[in-house]
Amino acid sequence: MTKRFTTLGRYPTTRLRRNRREEWSRRLIAENKLSVDDLIWPVFVQEGSKSRTPVESMPGVDRLSIDLFVEAAREARDLGIPAIAIFPETDPKAKTPDAREAYNPGNLVCRATAAVKKAVPDIGIMTDVALDPFNSDGHDGIVRNGQILNDESVEALVKQALVQTEAGADIQAPSDMMDGRIGAIRKALDSKGYQHEQIMSYAAKYASAFYNPFRDAIGSSGALKGDKKTYQMDYANSDEALREVGFDIEEGADMVMVKPGLPYLDVVRRVKDAFGVPTYAYQVSGEYAMLRAAADRGWLDWNKVLIETLTGFKRAGCDGILTYGAVDAARLLQSK
Ligand code: PBG
Repeated sequence: MTKRFTTLGRYPTTRLRRNRREEWSRRLIAENKLSVDDLIWPVFVQEGSKSRTPVESMPGVDRLSIDLFVEAAREARDLGIPAIAIFPETDPKAKTPDAREAYNPGNLVCRATAAVKKAVPDIGIMTDVALDPFNSDGHDGIVRNGQILNDESVEALVKQALVQTEAGADIQAPSDMMDGRIGAIRKALDSKGYQHEQIMSYAAKYASAFYNPFRDAIGSSGALKGDKKTYQMDYANSDEALREVGFDIEEGADMVMVKPGLPYLDVVRRVKDAFGVPTYAYQVSGEYAMLRAAADRGWLDWNKVLIETLTGFKRAGCDGILTYGAVDAARLLQSK
């Protein structure tokens, strides 16, 4: 529980505005500081070469072919961004009910991972573990008779995590919300000699309406039948988030994530206070889209709201933030 203050001081001997009067003083009393070390940059990749496709619902975000992705990774590394998360647009023809393209070692994610690891070995690569880019039903798990199967999905997710790790990915980030997947992936990685490869679990991931632009970006919106409420969490809950996080830590997660970001900062704070493990949040596509759309109309100042929101994540207890604004934020932090 939050501490109650007992010594309050009293106006006029105490004036809280004194400390805020000068810029140097405000810097001196700042409790949190956003740094480039806190940023993870999610990037969308597509087939082809020398090609980029703007994501309509995410102004300023392009899907990149692998060669341009490698250049982007080099730029991110030069700016000091520690890690990149890869999300693929899969050819609709490769999508099947069993999502087998997810564990094809030659798939787009694996090729993109290997290309970056070769050209820019010192940036961390995080790959998503979920079936939705590969599933003809647009779900994160395997669907049969309208049910999203848990244990069969976990088997496919384990295979996916293995091919991505073999391709050179450093962090497996299961975003699927199936029960038991963290333990199964940890066990499989360990048994293949990948004891040092990390897992960042999307531990408290909510069934949110803020993911729509992402689904456009990876081309899964058309495929999705129904919603994800039988596996992603109900946004009314936060005790349940602690249970989810606790399970994932027990199963071997090295880092945990709360998703979406801004509307869920209370959950971040509870998770950080309860467990004290490396805790992250994802400022998701819909959060990016709403800030950018307002900024493009001149209603908000993008640079200011970007840094303000990211600092808010830090204040809530985040050790880092996944944000589509990572490169912009890194440049702003550098020029300060
Ligand atoms: C897929 C996945 C999603 C996001 C990350 N991984 C979408 C979903 O669960 O439908 C959302 C990211 C964003 O909106 O920026 N498992």
